[in-house]
Amino acid sequence: MNNNPIGIFDSGIGGLTVAKAVSKLLPKEEIIYFGDTAHLPYGDKSTAAIQSYSIKICNLLLEKSCKIILIACNSASAAAFNLVKEYVGSKAIVLNVIDPAVEYIGEYYSQKKIGLIGTKRTVLSDVYNQKIVELNKSIELKSLATPLLAHIIEEGFATNRVGDEVVHQYLSDDILDDIEALILGCTHYPLIKDKIDSFYASQVEVIDSSEVVAISLKEKLETHNLLSDNKNTIHKFYVSDYTKSFEESTKIFFGEKVILKHYKLWE
Ligand code: DGL
Repeated sequence: MNNNPIGIFDSGIGGLTVAKAVSKLLPKEEIIYFGDTAHLPYGDKSTAAIQSYSIKICNLLLEKSCKIILIACNSASAAAFNLVKEYVGSKAIVLNVIDPAVEYIGEYYSQKKIGLIGTKRTVLSDVYNQKIVELNKSIELKSLATPLLAHIIEEGFATNRVGDEVVHQYLSDDILDDIEALILGCTHYPLIKDKIDSFYASQVEVIDSSEVVAISLKEKLETHNLLSDNKNTIHKFYVSDYTKSFEESTKIFFGEKVILKHYKLWE
């Protein structure tokens, strides 16, 4: 079981930011990544739709004997984590990307005003807010849905002026005034973290949760005695619809041999 892969999924390239952090921290772990590009974006879909996509992807990851399934998408973590966890039962450990970020906030931002940007699904779900309230640390959370950002990133516009303009428009919203930190509540957003940092002139901590997620995954593996001792890890990447930007991003991100397969899960 220890050398079985870790399954990671997202709607597209966003979860690669998490997969990258995992491969950096845990180089002996083999990753099977599934980007559900056929249904991108998840953030505009209903809870029921995201739940049904997530269950089908989990079936695939279970067939591939994944010891852990990491939902590397905030929208799916908000909409489907509880259901997926129940569905998977004892066959694998299921993790999400929201809990580690909330723990981090609880540790460093007691009694502060914090911002959150994410997809419509993530913001409407109110999951971050509920979990932060449960911390009971008088943290005030201000949330803003920024639905265009994932599209821009997925289309490869993140590095040009289109990206600058959209980031500027969203972050200028009054709701985010006077925040001390901003949670990137979408796994696509670390790809534009530089732009967000420069908007705030580094006066606001911009929280990319991929590293805290990787650390919490490592702790889980240790607790369950599931760390791998693989010598040669070859990660595998699947997409439900082939996209050029996904292939390019995986190559850039992993800078190593990448096996990208078009997996026709929905056909
Ligand atoms: N990466 C996904 C997330 O973290 C969002 C992108 C999408 O809307 O599909 O929510």
